[in-house]
Amino acid sequence: MSYDEFYVKSVIRSLQDWPEPGVIFRDVTPIFKDPKAMHMVSDAFVQRYLDSDITHIACIDARGFLFGAIMAYQLNLPLVLVRKKGKLPGETIHQEYALEYGTSAVEMQTDAVTKGDRVLLFDDLIATGGTLLAACTLINTLGAEVVEAAALIDLPDLQGSTRIQELGIPVYALLAYE
Ligand code: PRP
Ligand code: ADE
Repeated sequence: MSYDEFYVKSVIRSLQDWPEPGVIFRDVTPIFKDPKAMHMVSDAFVQRYLDSDITHIACIDARGFLFGAIMAYQLNLPLVLVRKKGKLPGETIHQEYALEYGTSAVEMQTDAVTKGDRVLLFDDLIATGGTLLAACTLINTLGAEVVEAAALIDLPDLQGSTRIQELGIPVYALLAYE
């Protein structure tokens, strides 16, 4: 299905002052309820990465999982999870980070990726970039390379995508909200 930015943006819901005053929350959950939007978004991502030398898809808890799983299935690649701290069994490493609202920490199993792996990292949205950067740190700590950090939405005013790119990690987002 050909990608129609106007249509996809019409499906995303914007909530003023949620979860706290001053934040405009860009809610992607209506995308998951709308098969046409979901196909457009998934197909656009698949097209971008179809002929790449990526070896693994990594995705971030929680909404990043939904895009990551589709990409791993469509590209026939292994999927590894970056979860909020305390959810993964076995040997793990974690990284703390600051959010647009509050702080958090993400975690990976130490055998998720290894030296030589070329990882495409997915989340739904880039705000301050803290979540994706923490995930990049974990992937790099395990010896693998982040080939690109991808998201459905970028909020460029919050400078997250710029921060990530300044560290030499390419960033790709389908949509931006200024
Ligand atoms: C949201 C979003 C990203 C992150 C982006 O997740 O899904 O993961 O914020 O913000 P950042 O670029 O400033 O790090 P949230 O932490 O709200 O958690 P959730 O997915 O569990 O709702
Ligand atoms: N995560 C961090 N900031 C966000 C926002 N403004 N909308 C949706 N998710 C977010």
